[in-house]
Amino acid sequence: MFNNRTKIKALLSTEPTGQEVIVMGWVRTFRNNQFIALNDGSSINNLQIVVELGLLDEATLKRITTGAALKVTGTLVPSLGKGQKAEVKASAIEILGDSDSEKYPLQPKKHSLEFLREIAHLRFRTSTFSAVFRIRHSLAFAIHQFFNEKGFVYLHTPIITSSDAEGAGEMFQVSTLPLENLPRTENGNIDFSQDFFGKSTNLTVSGQLEGELAATALGDIYTFGPTFRAENSNTTRHLAEFWMIEPEMAFYDIQDNMDLAEAFIQYLIRYVMDHNAEDLAFLDNRLKEEEKALPQAQRSEQGLLEKLQFVLDNRFERITYTEAIEVLLASPAYKKKKFKYEVKWGIDLQSEHERYLVEKHYKRPVIVTNYPKDIKAFYMRQNDDGKTVAAMDILAPGIGEIVGGSQREERLDKLQTRMQEMNVPVKEMEWYLDTRRFGSVPHAGFGLGFERMVLFVTGMSNIRDVIPFARTPKNCEF
Ligand code: 4AD
Ligand code: MG
Repeated sequence: MFNNRTKIKALLSTEPTGQEVIVMGWVRTFRNNQFIALNDGSSINNLQIVVELGLLDEATLKRITTGAALKVTGTLVPSLGKGQKAEVKASAIEILGDSDSEKYPLQPKKHSLEFLREIAHLRFRTSTFSAVFRIRHSLAFAIHQFFNEKGFVYLHTPIITSSDAEGAGEMFQVSTLPLENLPRTENGNIDFSQDFFGKSTNLTVSGQLEGELAATALGDIYTFGPTFRAENSNTTRHLAEFWMIEPEMAFYDIQDNMDLAEAFIQYLIRYVMDHNAEDLAFLDNRLKEEEKALPQAQRSEQGLLEKLQFVLDNRFERITYTEAIEVLLASPAYKKKKFKYEVKWGIDLQSEHERYLVEKHYKRPVIVTNYPKDIKAFYMRQNDDGKTVAAMDILAPGIGEIVGGSQREERLDKLQTRMQEMNVPVKEMEWYLDTRRFGSVPHAGFGLGFERMVLFVTGMSNIRDVIPFARTPKNCEF
């Protein structure tokens, strides 16, 4: 019964010749007891349904309210109104699901993103969020297509692990031990030998280490899955559960790694511009409207579409960490004491520093390489200067860090020494070291934060608005 419906997206690109059609969707608005704007989620655009006088009785007309679900049978005819090429002249309307307009939280008016975040179970029904989630889907699809075209193998790395890939200790523990009565060893520690896996386990912070195991046999692999960080960062850029894409390539150095990451990001942007033009145009306009309320100085210099086109047309800037510090120290912002955090060689770049480099100084995405080894993970390849490692972070306008990656330390002795220095449990990670013992090769990889990429492409400003159900400190609804 339901499979003979046509999706609105398809209808809107069909020549209207009076053909019979069946559409199903939800009412956005109903004007003058005559014009229904119907949306079925396939397109940002609504389909206009014309209800001729006398078609429906008074009681049925009253049930056509915002949010109600309808089945409409009618003919597709050229539209007389402006704004649409075709409309449906209804011959029958069936109410599939009522929506009490007194109680329905979404009214046909503009709601704030903050309000919609509180009713995240209903926000898919708004134009903004439907556009965001169609684009999120397109990006996910394009990611698989990009790597598939290049002969990469999609690797599923574990979600429950017993290692800390980043060595930062920001893990959610996984256990079936009774919290109210934990078994203890003789010396008072928790006895994890009695736990489900017989050892202490956690949710993964990154699939990279397992990715390296596969890359050093399959050549080129990528992961794309959920990762978890118990970092207490309540910002517009951090989630406790986020999705990450981690390609890992044998026979790659840091230059190859940067080239791949840049081509990857540009490919994703191009894909969405080609496949989601209407959604992007809607979001571009939304951003312009939002910014009208801001003083001139706080508005973006480029609109969303302009920004995306600019990123496609221009190479990313490539600088070393040391150069980045020099630029910051010479900046008017530094001289006028505008930075909140200290600037000197050795600091971890703060978001204000990253944004200065990208938005004010270079005005384009920037790849920063060769960070101090003390602020980066144990697995990064040590440079000959003894101070820096072959790390590469990509910083994007409006976002800050969008990619983090590196060439990996392939020399067994150097890696072991570094792990000891950084208190990484070497004995438990012999499996990792085996890649360096047997046929070790130069290799590299990176992680792209999926939600940060969705933020960048949609022009949204809060990461909670580009994932269906956000998990952040003190917040885990649905
Ligand atoms: O820089 P990160 O921590 O790097 C890694 O995890 C490496 N193992 C990647 C690799 O080389 N294979 O994280 C990578 C990216 C960041 O650049 C950022 O875009 C995103 O993941 N990210 C987060 N996104 C949302 N919420 C968080 N809490 C995030 N933490 C990192
Ligand atoms: Mg990072």
